[in-house]
Amino acid sequence: MRLATLAATSLLVLPLAACTEPAPTPAPLARSLASVLPAPARVTPSGVRFELTEASGIAAEGDALPVAELLAATLRPATGFRLPVAATGDVALRLDTSIAGEAYRLDVGEDRVDLTAGTPAGLNNGVQTLRQLLPAAIDAGTVQQAAWIIPGGRIDDEPRYAYRGAMLDLARHFHTPDEVKRYIDQISRFKINYLHLHLADDQGWRIQIDSWPELTAVSGAPGTGVDGAGGGYLTKAAYRDLVTYAADRYITVIPEVDMPGHVNAAQVAYPELTCDGVAPRQRTDTAVGYSSLCAGKEITYRFAEDVIRELAAMTPGPYLHIGGDEARATPHADYVTFQKRVMPLARKYGKIPIGWQEIAAAEPEGAIVQYWNHTEPLTTNQRVIVSPASQAYLDMQYDRQTPAGGMNWAGTTEVDDAYDWNPGARLKTVPPELIFGVEAPLWSETLRDSADIEFLAFPRLVAIAELGWSPWSTHDWESFRQRIGAYGPQWTRLGVRFYESPKIPWGH
Ligand code: ACM
Repeated sequence: MRLATLAATSLLVLPLAACTEPAPTPAPLARSLASVLPAPARVTPSGVRFELTEASGIAAEGDALPVAELLAATLRPATGFRLPVAATGDVALRLDTSIAGEAYRLDVGEDRVDLTAGTPAGLNNGVQTLRQLLPAAIDAGTVQQAAWIIPGGRIDDEPRYAYRGAMLDLARHFHTPDEVKRYIDQISRFKINYLHLHLADDQGWRIQIDSWPELTAVSGAPGTGVDGAGGGYLTKAAYRDLVTYAADRYITVIPEVDMPGHVNAAQVAYPELTCDGVAPRQRTDTAVGYSSLCAGKEITYRFAEDVIRELAAMTPGPYLHIGGDEARATPHADYVTFQKRVMPLARKYGKIPIGWQEIAAAEPEGAIVQYWNHTEPLTTNQRVIVSPASQAYLDMQYDRQTPAGGMNWAGTTEVDDAYDWNPGARLKTVPPELIFGVEAPLWSETLRDSADIEFLAFPRLVAIAELGWSPWSTHDWESFRQRIGAYGPQWTRLGVRFYESPKIPWGH
């Protein structure tokens, strides 16, 4: 064993000065196979250790190569090692079609690491696990003097749900592409595989639509958004770049344009989209439920079809979210008429429609229904994404004392509240086999920058990620809080602002 001289409890990350100074600063303990977030399905520690060294290399070929390059790129800065990606190497990534979908197998022996999966996405899941098994210093942007130890054993892992989503609201406050990329970088570490972008609402319109150019010219202008802070929109090129950036991290983007409610920004730009043709005033407040497209006017459907066609054309993923929530200003019969015409438009342009739970009223055959309103029951025979506001909404305040940021209309949500529920049993009237997955939405009324996003998202996003990924048999708050506590230094090192919940034993 290469590290026979190191006792089991040795500090494995030593500051550069450790050799010359008698009292090195405390360094993080080595990770264990039991420290991974979200918890893997099956873990078998062996007691041996693998050390990544100057001589290490990453073996991969064919479709495994991009994942190997991603792994190498994440390991090189802190290790300073060359880590060539080649036909041979002591860290081997291999595709094996006997392993299904997103599952992977990780074998860490004394002299080699073997990561095997059926797809590149599965390999990437294993890579995210591997990154968490290395000392936290692996995330430093500069060379660190450390023993790059990976605990030995085997992990056989696969997701509980195919859909593990995060949502970011760009409408109430526009977050720049760089801020969205930063969020993608963080959520991808926890095996989130969908990013739902809420691109239009009463306060702003954030996506270029060529056939309706005033949408962004007027409602994406500076000053559009809650409190008039910010403004901006994604050009098609910027959107496509984000989609590619996410796809390179095995995350599929789902664009949402909310209809028939939440459309004030569209109507400010195009007054003909109201029933009376009168332009409403631009809104910068946080009220909801007052705007509606006009189900009786043909221009409504021309607008919906143009938007859906252009969104579908710039979105390679299979889903398109058409909103449908809180259409309180739309008479019920009009709502049903509207949805029955608009949901098939997504199909017409090759996409599967997703809608908030209100679309269940419109017989959404083949659509996906997103549960959000925890005060309303949901009855549907369609697939369901579960995101109850009282547990999964990342914009709810942690408690009433939490400093600025967040809402509390659905209550307050501490980290244990976000963790301690079962998406498979949450909806009494929906059978477990219809649960497509979970999502953690983050609405932006109170958000202004990445620090605001991260403070509300972390650690709760990881709680939702674990509900989506890990088998229910592993569900254990005590284990989760320990693992989150041990992860804290990693966020600190990355400059990610997170909520230091008093319920978590932080390891720093
Ligand atoms: C929602 O929170 N109105 C979907």
